[in-house]
Amino acid sequence: MSSIEPSPGAVQHDSLITGTPEWAALEKHHAELAGVHLRGLFDDDPRRGETFTAAADGLHLDFSKNRITARTVELLVALAERARLREQIEAMFTGQRINTTEGRAVLHVALRAPADAVIEVDGVNVVPAVHAVLQRMSAFADKVRSGVWRGATGKHIRTVVNIGIGGSDLGPAMAYDALLDYSDRSIRFRFVSNVDGTDIWEATHDLDPAETLFVVSSKTFTTLETLANARTARAWVTDALGPDAVPFHFVAVSTNTAEVTGFGIDSANMFEFWDWVGGRYSVDSAIGLSLMLAIGPEHFRDLLAGFHAMDVHFRTAPFDRNLPVLLGLLGLWYRDFFGAQTHAVLPYSHYLGRFPAYLQQLDMESNGKSVDRSGRPVSTPTGPVVWGTPGTNGQHAYFQLIHQGTALVPADFIGFVHPNHDVRTGRGGGTDHHVLLMANFFAQTEALAFGRSAEQVAAEGVDPALVPHRTFPGNRPTNTILADRLTPFTLGQLIALYEHKVFTQGVLWDINSFDQWGVELGKLLAQRIIPELSADTTDGDDLAEAADAGRLAHDSSTNSLIRRFREARRA
Ligand code: F6P
Repeated sequence: MSSIEPSPGAVQHDSLITGTPEWAALEKHHAELAGVHLRGLFDDDPRRGETFTAAADGLHLDFSKNRITARTVELLVALAERARLREQIEAMFTGQRINTTEGRAVLHVALRAPADAVIEVDGVNVVPAVHAVLQRMSAFADKVRSGVWRGATGKHIRTVVNIGIGGSDLGPAMAYDALLDYSDRSIRFRFVSNVDGTDIWEATHDLDPAETLFVVSSKTFTTLETLANARTARAWVTDALGPDAVPFHFVAVSTNTAEVTGFGIDSANMFEFWDWVGGRYSVDSAIGLSLMLAIGPEHFRDLLAGFHAMDVHFRTAPFDRNLPVLLGLLGLWYRDFFGAQTHAVLPYSHYLGRFPAYLQQLDMESNGKSVDRSGRPVSTPTGPVVWGTPGTNGQHAYFQLIHQGTALVPADFIGFVHPNHDVRTGRGGGTDHHVLLMANFFAQTEALAFGRSAEQVAAEGVDPALVPHRTFPGNRPTNTILADRLTPFTLGQLIALYEHKVFTQGVLWDINSFDQWGVELGKLLAQRIIPELSADTTDGDDLAEAADAGRLAHDSSTNSLIRRFREARRA
């Protein structure tokens, strides 16, 4: 792709962000901060832990343990203004076609807008359609949960299996885990995504087809993995119950009615969404159907309310008190000025175990780009590698590197004041598990920021030979996000927080955060290789010969790997 024409209404940068005076000011400022340690910043300003904070509807962000001063925030905000972030936010919220390479509006914010909101795409208010689908989803969820919806033989649905991948899997799977405590535990939920047959096999081998409902979730309804798994599931059901059972055991979530009906699912059992919902931004659309089946329509609406609260905050709060903007600017500060290549997200909540994996798609599929919206090579590094697992487990695995390694790893710590369950270490008393968890939560960011100097270690009488090994340099930046309790509302806030953080960074880098052309080449090549692997391996010598003769369309490595695979399968 050479150059992309800006679509009407899309706000364009005048020049590369790195060529602006605001960028130059940040470079100079960064150099001035070179010798500054968080120890000094906290010593100089005893109120720093209170002033470098911001809040949105009960979600508290402490960003004081970052390598910044008040001047840094000013300069970063000036950069955001130079990038016309405010206009870009408005462009998104008002349905402009800001996904320029696909010519689409980007309106996940409409999915959680109140029923009386007006958000137009091409002069049509999309909000009534959003609420109509929500009503249909709710009615369906109520039927399944109450036992009115039954399988083909009249049995209750005991297991729901969501089949989808990427945004059609990660969101509902993550949110199901996160909100397990709010779910109907009499129904089991499973999430199948991988085309590796073990995924669908493990998800179904111990189930009764007569009690199983499949939710086939795919925006396009053409995705190889999802279609393969859905066909396998359909055969599993029809082998047991006959072809007439399909309408009782399959519903679909998609934008593609033709493909859904072609698959054999009645459009009456299809829940719709729209091309202006990106896959990785779709958990709050009908893609959340499995989640709604688990937690019920009311909790699902609380989740949407949390999303919406963060949308309003993002759209209206001043940038220097705006949680997504601050997280986005701080991320850019480390990525572009300190060269940090990764960003860790560390939830101190077991229920949020899949949140980092969810954020990987959200962030890396959005901002893993190396050309700007005009098709020019970007002038500065873009999206980081996002990773993480729940605390405290990570502390006993990779935290060593974050504390003492040579890489700078900025990290977000996410924790809650109240646990979902009051669990204690002894019967009728003992220590509160949540106190143990949160003591670690607070200790880690303190240790990362302030470390332990060689002088302190030596003063403790440590063997001088061990002093370098036991010294903690500190000055390792973290954000602390603290909420009251993990609820559907809080989860909605957290997801929207990161959605808008990613948006903020995309605007500053002037990249299109809403396409994903980088996933296409592998898909295309796989389509070419499928027949080469699946030709009858007992007499498929034609392919082997073609490979020998160098007639397969691959490089020598791929050719020889394919030949090796085929030969081993034949043996
Ligand atoms: O391959 C990447 C991707 O297109 C994601 O962006 C998307 O979430 C996923 O595949 C699944 O796509 P679909 O919902 O169309 O099956």
